[in-house]
Amino acid sequence: MTDKKEDMTDTPPVCNYEGSDYQTSFWDEGGRAYEDACEEIALKRLLPTGGKLMLELGAGAGRNTPRYRGYERVVLLDYSRTQLEQAKQRLGDSGEYIYVAADVYHLPFVNGLFDGATMIRTLHHMAEARLALQQVRTVLQENAIFILEYANKQNLKSILRYLLRRQSWNPFSPEPIEFAALNFDFHPATVRSWLQLCNFSVERQLTVSHFRIGFLKKSLPLKLLVFLDSLAQLTGDAWQFSPSVFTRNRMVGKSEIPVEGTFFKCPACGVALEDTPPDLVCATCGEHYPVVDGIYDFRRAAPAAQE
Ligand SMILES: C[S@@+](CC[C@H](N)C(=O)[O-])C[C@H]1O[C@@H](n2cnc3c(N)ncnc32)[C@H](O)[C@@H]1O
Repeated sequence: MTDKKEDMTDTPPVCNYEGSDYQTSFWDEGGRAYEDACEEIALKRLLPTGGKLMLELGAGAGRNTPRYRGYERVVLLDYSRTQLEQAKQRLGDSGEYIYVAADVYHLPFVNGLFDGATMIRTLHHMAEARLALQQVRTVLQENAIFILEYANKQNLKSILRYLLRRQSWNPFSPEPIEFAALNFDFHPATVRSWLQLCNFSVERQLTVSHFRIGFLKKSLPLKLLVFLDSLAQLTGDAWQFSPSVFTRNRMVGKSEIPVEGTFFKCPACGVALEDTPPDLVCATCGEHYPVVDGIYDFRRAAPAAQE
């Protein structure tokens, strides 16, 4: 088996959360109760009442996972093993949750496996966002629901800064803006066009976290701000000027029906794998994928062929 770094050189770069205290510093102690509550409301509005198998892409430490309780099982996928370890500590080890360390660009699942997927606060780390969305599409069944959150470059703050000449980039132009290394904001029309090109029908859009402004969060009661946001979210299909946008998308068109009993595939060569922990071995290309402390690790694969 070749070295992981060499293997990954010709695939899009991954934003590294290994060893990060993101959950504690950003959410638990970072004054983000307002954003978290707004996102909970948006998810409630967009999630179907039930489902069988949900794929949570960029699950991090599992902050949102309990919100997917309508699904029988949830696969938490993240590139960072340490994020998944935190998620496992939080959510436990019941068969309801499956922990998978893998790259969104090289998903280790047979085509057409999932009837639901979410990607929250993760597309904004994707240098090749459209490619990432194409990968998501391949693992979804026909009619599956995909809830995508993305960071909106056309938000009121960036528009104001642009008009006051405090910001050089144009919030109305369609291309993504990389405002920090591997951190991208997107134009809503561009994301919609990518989704449509990937055979998703955009069913509903909610604009979220309209009042993400320090002095408002400090001076107004949390409950009031969240209530106001919950009302403003409902304008999301008409216009999108909030920093965050949640979309519910339905997979249309045909998708493959997986062979009964198959689940994982080799991300290096695409052949279905037998689920044989503590070591999954690809009978075709010989790659090994370890399962350590209940976390499947598919990060060592050579790049899969792009569609
Ligand atoms: C900002 S965090 C969001 C975590 C979680 N969705 C939440 O909202 O709390 C982004 C997550 O995406 C993961 N990530 C980034 N690029 C990835 C990739 N190419 N494949 C898999 N996970 C990735 C990171 O490891 C990180 O845990």
